[in-house]
Amino acid sequence: MDVEIVGKFLSTLPEDDDHPYRTGPWRPQTTEWDADDLAAVDGEIPRDLDGVYLRNTENPLHPAFKTYHPFDGDGMVHVVGFRDGKAFYRNRFIRTDGFTAENDAGEPLWPGLAEPVQLAQRDDGWGARTRMKDASSTDVIVHRGIALTSFYQCGDLYRVDPYSANTLGKETWNGRFPVDWGVSAHPKVDNKTGELLFFNYSKQDPYMHYGVVDENNELAHYVDIPLPGPRLPHDMAFTENYAILNDFPLFWDPRLLEHDVHLPRFYPDIPSRFAVIPRRGSLEDIRWFEADPTFVLHFTNAYEDGDEIVLDGFFEGDPQPLDTGGGKWDKLFRFLALDRLQTTLHRWRFNLVTGAVKDERLSESITEFGTINPEYAAGNYRYAYAATGKPGWFLFDGLVKHDLRTGGQEGFSFGDGVYGSETAMAPRVGATGEDDGYLVTITTDMNADASYCVVFDAARLSDGPVCKLQLPERVSSGTHSTWAPGAQLRRWDTADSPAEALGL
Ligand SMILES: [Fe+2]
Repeated sequence: MDVEIVGKFLSTLPEDDDHPYRTGPWRPQTTEWDADDLAAVDGEIPRDLDGVYLRNTENPLHPAFKTYHPFDGDGMVHVVGFRDGKAFYRNRFIRTDGFTAENDAGEPLWPGLAEPVQLAQRDDGWGARTRMKDASSTDVIVHRGIALTSFYQCGDLYRVDPYSANTLGKETWNGRFPVDWGVSAHPKVDNKTGELLFFNYSKQDPYMHYGVVDENNELAHYVDIPLPGPRLPHDMAFTENYAILNDFPLFWDPRLLEHDVHLPRFYPDIPSRFAVIPRRGSLEDIRWFEADPTFVLHFTNAYEDGDEIVLDGFFEGDPQPLDTGGGKWDKLFRFLALDRLQTTLHRWRFNLVTGAVKDERLSESITEFGTINPEYAAGNYRYAYAATGKPGWFLFDGLVKHDLRTGGQEGFSFGDGVYGSETAMAPRVGATGEDDGYLVTITTDMNADASYCVVFDAARLSDGPVCKLQLPERVSSGTHSTWAPGAQLRRWDTADSPAEALGL
């Protein structure tokens, strides 16, 4: 492995930090690395694996004012690129306005998710809307050959080179980016049409918008989605012809919100509502469907089946777990543990002709953070690959491949002290079937004090990794990831530093 440190940042976090999500597997990184010719400590890099695995993580450099929440940390993008049986790694902080300002100041300037918004030291940039720092640390997707990073509670989309991980600036959509409201955590790219579908939300009426950016990067569609009040939607889904948005009964307590206090509550007597809208539809075209109350953090896929829209996602059996008296950290972070939320893969069917709603549980297993073969997005798919959670923690201790046709599943446990990332599915070059490809993840191995990029054969997950590559440093745990096929990136050729320049 050929390794070079290319950046090092000053951390002002306390030496004796005891925060559970700033220590251990969540220990933030302060170093930026370039590593070429990654060494396989196990197996061989498949020669038909071609593309980049991109992962976002939260890496705080400064302490919180009062209470750090793991979603507050500054975004850092990790790239593991594969081609011709070789692999490289890059990691870079995303140069957000907030990161730059706090780095210059050497101290925190904005409060986080679990802090009073009145603590904001500045009221400009993205602090102005939520008065939280836009850390751009939640998701990373690829549109038109450029990676875009996003933020949990709506923010800018930062453009990131998918090979070098260097920040290229903010996405503007030729001046049409909705700067007042931003874009939510999970915009969706339809690789078949080249469109990017998104929503945003805020405390102002109409509380949500839905938009479409076309293959030329123009904001081609942007409509109001009126909701009964401020909501906290996290994800959306799309089919060939429709987008699906949601209004779940978990939102800031309206009475407290009048006093500028942001406390999410689950309202079990209010149904879940799903909006089905033609992808370029208007307000009048929205069809609302009601179902049992829950909250869904992430959907896996949606598709059309005759008159029905099929929507799959993770139903939370207990969106507001009881405080069991486990101390302040347990009280605050019980909302992050999959076992506490009781997340199970679920299917809703919305009949566009009769208006009927049917739903069913697809698995008894507690999993979340599901991914699919990207070629099957908006299509009738069979497999979802999801994470299992360490009880009581926001840590992924294993992988499950759900077979939605048979109800079967197979899994792989990382073992004690080893945690994975959201795992992306990378179709094999020349793939002939839905699970003909690889599952790619980055592990945080507390036993070896190291991180590895681990690759599985998607058709034989339970056989274990086909390849394990050493990374330069232990990577912090984090949230989302994606896979971008090399052929797709090379077609756009928009990146600063194409793979060829990296010796691949
Ligand atoms: Fe998410």
